[in-house]
Formats: sequence, C-alpha cells, structure tokens
Amino acid sequence: MTLQSIRYECGELSILDQLLLPHETAYERIGCVEDGWKAIRSMKVRGAPAIAIVGCLSLAVELHKREFPDTPSLSSFIKAQLTHLTTARPTAVNMGKSAAILIKFVDSMVEQNVSHEEIKSRVIKKIERMLPDDISDNMKLSEHGAKHIMGRIGQDKVTILTHCNTGSLATAGYGTALVVRSLHAAQHLREVYCTETRPYNQGSRLTAYELMHDHVPSTLIADSMVGLVMRTRGISAVVVGADRVTRNGDTANKIGTYQIAVLAQHHGIPFYVAAPITCHDGGRLDGESIVIEERPPHELTCVAGVQLAPKDMNCWNPAFDVTPNELITGGIITEHGVFTPHQLNDFHDK
Ligand code: MRU
Repeated sequence: MTLQSIRYECGELSILDQLLLPHETAYERIGCVEDGWKAIRSMKVRGAPAIAIVGCLSLAVELHKREFPDTPSLSSFIKAQLTHLTTARPTAVNMGKSAAILIKFVDSMVEQNVSHEEIKSRVIKKIERMLPDDISDNMKLSEHGAKHIMGRIGQDKVTILTHCNTGSLATAGYGTALVVRSLHAAQHLREVYCTETRPYNQGSRLTAYELMHDHVPSTLIADSMVGLVMRTRGISAVVVGADRVTRNGDTANKIGTYQIAVLAQHHGIPFYVAAPITCHDGGRLDGESIVIEERPPHELTCVAGVQLAPKDMNCWNPAFDVTPNELITGGIITEHGVFTPHQLNDFHDK
C-alpha cells in the first residue's frame, strides 16, 4: 500500500496534513472550497497534481451539499470558486488548467440547455474522475520512464538522484518522478539518492519517509552534496517532477532543480523530467514568463519552528526555478511516452 495523501468518497474529502509529517500521520477534513484553498496555500497538501485534485474535489464537496435554483447561479458559483482556487499557489499549472477545462465543460452544457441538476451532477463526476485518472497516468508514466532509463543506461541496475517530493504524497497516489518505484519493482534499482530540498525540506520530511515506507533502497543527502555525489557515487540518471512544462520543454520545478540540471550536464548524467500531461502548459511558449511563487521568509529562516538565521535578516525565498530545455538531456517522461523537448512541441500541435 502506498501512502494516501487524499481520501475521498461520495462528497467527503480529507487530506493528510503534510506539515506534520514525518512525526504525525493525521488527516484533516476539507468541508468546503475555502478549506481546500487554505490547505493548498499553507502547504498541508502540496505537489502540482495533488494541489489541483484537492482544489477541484473541495468544489465537488461543496456541490454535493448545495442546492441551486437555476443554471446561471450554479454556473457563476462554479466559475467563481474555480477562479479563487487558482490563486492559492501560482506556479503549478495543474489547478489553472483543471479550472479552465471545467469552466469550458460547464459553458458547453449551458449552451446545449442541459438542466442545472444535470450540470451539477456531471461536474461532480468529472472532478471525481481526477483521482483514478491521475493514478493510472502516473503508473503508465513510470513504466515509460523506467523502460527509457534502462534502455539509455544499458546496465542491469541503476542509481537515481531525485529532488523534492513527487511521490504518492504529491499526487493522487504512486507518484511521478518516483519512477524509481517501477525500477525497484522490476529489480533494476540499485539505490535512489534524495535531496533534503531546502528550504522546506520536502525531500527529508516527505520523500525520505515515502521511500522508507515502501522499503526502497535510498540515501538522503543535503542539497549541497549533489556535485560530490555525482562525481563519486555513480549516479545513472536524475529524475525530477514538474510544476509547469512549457511548449518548448522549459520546466518550472522545486527551487534547486536548475542547479542540479547544470551539475548533471557537467557530469554527463541524463536529466529527466517526469510530468503527466496535467503538468503541461501547451499555451505558453517558454519558461521566461512563468510566475515564480515567493514563500514567506520564516520558511527559510526557521526549521520546525526553530529560528536558525537572525530574525530580521533580509531574505529571498522563491519556491521554484526554471530549468531550460537544453538541460533536460534524458527527456520529458509522460503517460504517452518519453519526449525530447522538440518532440513535445509537436505533441502539443496534435
Ligand atoms: O512546493 P511544492 O512542495 O508544492 O513543490 C512540489 C514540486 O516542486 C514537485 O516536484 C512538483 O510539484 C511535481 S509533484 C508530482
């Protein structure tokens, strides 16, 4: 059993509070859109796919409970709530993309004069599909990724380096850059190195916890050790997740991803981005204009509530960086296969 970050059944939603991990496993009920928004903003739930799934499910929870007198009131409620949800965290494309898809879905039903009761029921059903769809996409993606990596490396066992948390906790289950799960299941994984992922420690708090939970052979390192690990520990490939992949393959992901990609290129190590299509922003040409979220200074100066830096020190705390496509030398792993950035552009044209 992989860890479950999102529990949902018939209008009842709860999330695993990731701020308490790895010390405490506690689920929190999400009873409305505002609860969903706050859980995303405070990072009780995080990871691009999980953000969108929890955001949309919080709307489904509210739709289950509410009655609407007519189509205009239902349609404007859905649109306002979805628009609000997109403001919780700006960098990951998933919530904005899901909101746009659902709004288009509602508009097309309104145009066809579908009754408001039917619109509500179809929207709830469409949102509820997101959970199983994400899991099945992650599994397909992992198999494509594992196969590609084994073919490229040409050895029986590989050692992978990953950054941040992209596993069950960041998705509906299973995970993306934890392609290592598939490698491990096929007995091709020697070991995975996971970075601590400063400043918010998703690697040491969450990925390390997931890897140990699943008995995957793994070693935790500080972010500053990546260069030495690449030089001395036989890293076969780097696999990271994505919050937004643009048309040309530029990828926004957790802060620190870019410097790992630079180091990988220097050491001739293939660098992969594992990103289901829900993480792709086919309408954006390149990574230049991606809005990078800046988190509050205390997430940098404090660790687990302990102040480590002088209290009033000036801080800059961007949560993500953009890795340019030319550094993604392994490929972009999706549920449809593994693409070079150039092939990805053609894929978006289809
Ligand atoms: O700030 P976070 O913890 O939400 O950042 C998460 C990441 O950057 C992940 O790598 C990304 O969302 C992909 S998760 C499958």
